[in-house]
Amino acid sequence: MKSITLTRFLIEQEREADALPTELRMLIETVARACKAIGNAVSKGALGEVLGSLGSENVQGEVQKKLDVIANELLLEANEWGGHLAAMASEEMETLHRIPHRYPKGEYLLLFDPIDGSSNIDVGLTVGTIFSVLVAPAECSGRDVTEEDFLQPGSRQVAAGYALYGPQALLVLTIGAGVYEFTLDREIGSWRMTDGPMTMPQGAREFAINMSNRRQWSPAVTRYIDERVAGSEGPLGKDYNMRWTASMVADIHRILKRGGIFLYPADAREPGKARLRLMYEANPMAFLVTQAGGAATDGTTAILDIAPSGLHQRVGVVIGDKAEVAAASAMAEVG
Ligand code: F6P
Ligand code: MN
Repeated sequence: MKSITLTRFLIEQEREADALPTELRMLIETVARACKAIGNAVSKGALGEVLGSLGSENVQGEVQKKLDVIANELLLEANEWGGHLAAMASEEMETLHRIPHRYPKGEYLLLFDPIDGSSNIDVGLTVGTIFSVLVAPAECSGRDVTEEDFLQPGSRQVAAGYALYGPQALLVLTIGAGVYEFTLDREIGSWRMTDGPMTMPQGAREFAINMSNRRQWSPAVTRYIDERVAGSEGPLGKDYNMRWTASMVADIHRILKRGGIFLYPADAREPGKARLRLMYEANPMAFLVTQAGGAATDGTTAILDIAPSGLHQRVGVVIGDKAEVAAASAMAEVG
């Protein structure tokens, strides 16, 4: 297949479409390079002695896998010295990571989930890296960046994407002008475009949710799912299929490619809280899916409009097919 490289795509975006500042282009290239290194580590598996846990916990109280920490380090090291960033934040770090004083500072803020779907690492299933890019507020030039500088709604993202380490290594990216997919060509070591601008198919009858949480759901979520499980014998009169990989990045990729809806709603386990994180999971995925013609809410409010209150804030996620997201949100509003 003849296709352009990520490098060429980004340069063309910068040159022709005027959609991409040079510094942001270089930042995306750096993140993409780090994702190659992470994919390489993931693919070694047991042979590279990268599987298993460390015994430590991250700020979320989750046991850190070796690969969570390796991937976090790879992203920090790759992005520290290029001069594009003001600071970084990650699922694996309690607070922000400032650019050391010995390096020049840029205007961007990078957030990432180094390995999403960590529970799949040790069984050899698909995991990925999710990232989001914001612009540091103008007033933070000349002073140290703070956590508050990161707390901007997802609508302010200037780029977002994910890498998927599955049968192929894939990179899916938006800079606010469509969604593009690149596949890693291992023979030449380059990301090459294999899809885009991507439009997610609408009308697919497929949902993704962890059904084992059913007894914890709100009445609205229970009704939404029950109607679909009832299929052709229920009020919708049509059958639905279900998929759950327990890697959000893999589930969302499937939805971008063939449609459907993903739900990880806030539930009764932690009142007012939820499983997924707003800043580096929900926001980048919401940006990508809406760019591809889908929708994303927390059950009622558009994810991209939520004003964050913390770096590791959790949020309910209902994302994918526009009509399905609207149907789920309408039930929530009725209560
Ligand atoms: O990052 C959180 C995450 O691993 C997501 O990738 C995934 O969708 C979810 O958690 C899986 O949750 P559960 O263990 O409840 O299936
Ligand atoms: Mn994750």
